[in-house]
Amino acid sequence: MNLKNAAVLISGGSAGIGYAIAKTLMDSGARVAITGRDQARLTAAAKELGAFPIQADVSQEADVLRTYKEVLAKFGELDVLVNNAGIGAFKPLVETETAAFERIFATNVTGAMMMGREAAKHFVQRNRGNIINIASTAALRGAPNGTAYYGSKFALRGMTECWRAELRKYNVRVMLVNPSEVITNFAATAGFAQKANDSKLRGQELAHAVKAILEMDDRGFTTELAVFATNPLD
Ligand SMILES: NC(=O)c1ccc[n+]([C@@H]2O[C@H](COP(=O)([O-])OP(=O)(O)OC[C@H]3O[C@@H](n4cnc5c(N)ncnc54)[C@H](OP(=O)(O)O)[C@@H]3O)[C@@H](O)[C@H]2O)c1
Repeated sequence: MNLKNAAVLISGGSAGIGYAIAKTLMDSGARVAITGRDQARLTAAAKELGAFPIQADVSQEADVLRTYKEVLAKFGELDVLVNNAGIGAFKPLVETETAAFERIFATNVTGAMMMGREAAKHFVQRNRGNIINIASTAALRGAPNGTAYYGSKFALRGMTECWRAELRKYNVRVMLVNPSEVITNFAATAGFAQKANDSKLRGQELAHAVKAILEMDDRGFTTELAVFATNPLD
């Protein structure tokens, strides 16, 4: 697709990977709307980027429906959903609290499903569109302390395959991007310390990957893409 003038919605675009994707796509001429829960952070990010802010929590159905009302009122159409909003929590199974588990799934799975569903309604009607789900290398194999987060990303990967199977006949390209560790606020928000060094991935590398897979001619698409740091000295 041609990104020039494309209408793009990025959930969780007010920080981290989503912010970097917003910047790269805007630099390529796209019109971009970003969402996030924290109004102050969202407003500041949208101002820096020149993006359209929509204050919304993907885990709240009313917010999701309003997000699509606002983005379609602003752009008149939508070409791309980047389903990026996500949070983490890492505990051994025996210490996993149901409420904490459900909180992760509410954003990473139910939220992604509702955002994807509303985009798909629009894309089916237009007979074209693009959905990029940002999962993780946590969607590829399990690990200790991963019940909630890894489980949620496996679920997102599973949903991606189902949406792809349903939506290809409407010319909708459903793609999965699996970042390895990226330096963002994610770790701090999830309650663990991240060793930041210059060899680890930044949001920009993921933004590069997203731009590249979108720009492929519409007759083709990348089903799934994992992005690792070349030599992440820890
Ligand atoms: N960083 C990594 O190492 C890494 C690796 C693999 C995959 N990922 C995935 O990449 C995605 C982005 O992560 P990141 O590292 O960029 O994290 P981040 O820096 O913490 O940014 C997360 C973004 O999502 C928003 N968000 C969180 N929950 C939301 C909700 N319920 N509704 C709407 N927006 C919400 C945040 O804004 P508010 O808090 O204001 O809502 C923020 O804009 C996530 O899906 C994450 O699982 C990250």
